[in-house]
Amino acid sequence: MDLSPASPVPLLLDCDPGHDDMFAILLAAAHPAVDLLAVTTVAGNGPLEAVTLNARKICTLAGLDGTVVAAGADRALRGDRRTAPDIHGETGLDGAPLPEPAVPLADEDAVTLMARLLAESDRPVTIAATGPLTNVATLLERHPEVKERIERIVFMGGSAGRGNTTPLAEFNVHTDPEAADRVLRSGLPLLMCGLDVTHQALATPEIFDRLHAIGGLLPATLGGLLRFFAGAYEKVYDMPAPPVHDPVAIAAIIEPAVVRLVDAPVAVELAGEHTRGATVVDLHGVTGAEPNVQVALDLDADRFWDLMLDAIRTLTDRGALGGA
Ligand code: BDR
Ligand code: CA
Repeated sequence: MDLSPASPVPLLLDCDPGHDDMFAILLAAAHPAVDLLAVTTVAGNGPLEAVTLNARKICTLAGLDGTVVAAGADRALRGDRRTAPDIHGETGLDGAPLPEPAVPLADEDAVTLMARLLAESDRPVTIAATGPLTNVATLLERHPEVKERIERIVFMGGSAGRGNTTPLAEFNVHTDPEAADRVLRSGLPLLMCGLDVTHQALATPEIFDRLHAIGGLLPATLGGLLRFFAGAYEKVYDMPAPPVHDPVAIAAIIEPAVVRLVDAPVAVELAGEHTRGATVVDLHGVTGAEPNVQVALDLDADRFWDLMLDAIRTLTDRGALGGA
C-alpha cells in the first residue's frame, strides 16, 4: 500500500550527525514523500566542524551528491559548548571509515540558507530538527517574516519522563535550553519526538541482520557505525540495543500513523538546580495551560524499521558508493 502523499513534503533537516542523525538524513533523502531541500548542521554530538564534515561524508557515501549542506551555530545561544563523545566518539561519528566528502559546503550559513529557502518555496516548509534547537531559534528571531512559511517544526528532543543527559533532561534540549524555550513558545505547530518514543526505535540484533542482508558498502558501513553506537549505549546506559532516535522524527512526517500523538502543554526548565533542560510535559492537563505541542508517545517500531531499511535499500540500489 502506498501511503505517500501526492506531492512530497518540502523539508529542511537541521541536525548534528551523529549516528542517529545519519539515519535521519538517509530516510529523508530516500523517501519519495519528502523533498529534502537542505541539510543544515548545528554543534551538538560533536563540534560544528566535525558534524558538518560528517553530514557531507554521509551524503557522499549514500550517493546524495546534490544535497545542499550548510553549517550553523557552533555553540548554544548562551555560549555553552557541549558534545557527546561518550556516545558518538571523538569524530561525532566513530565506528567505520567514511569517504572524503564530495558534497560541497554551501557559502551561506545555515540560518541564512533556511530563511532564503523558506521565502522561495511555493509551499509551506516543514523543519525537522534532530540536534539542539539553536539554529531554529535563531532563524525565528532573525527572520520572523518566514514564520508564516513554516508548516510545522518536528523535533527530536525532550521527554515526558526521564532524561538521558541528566536524570530529567534529554541531550538536545539540555544542550541549548534557551533555544528549545524559544521554539516551544513560538506559536508554530510543533511535534515532539522525545525519548518516550525514540526509546522504542531499538536496533536489535534482528535489525542488524536485516541491514547486513541488504548487501553493499552503504549497509556494511552503517552496520559498523551502528555497532559503535550500540557499544556506547551498552557501556553508558546498560542498554542491550541502542535507540536510534532521530529518524523517528522523519518517519513521523512521512507516515503520521507510525506514532501515537497527544496534545499537551510543554515547557522547558531553564533555572532548576537539578532540572535545567528538562521538558515539563503536562500529560493530564493539571497546569490548565493550552497545549502547544503534539507529543509522540508510542511508536510502531516494526513499521518504523521497515521504512528505515527500505530507505537504505533504495539508496543502495540507486547507486550509493559501492552499491548497484
Ligand atoms: C539525541 O541526542 C543525540 O545524541 C542524538 O543524536 C539525538 O538527537 C538523543 O537524546
Ligand atoms: Ca541528533
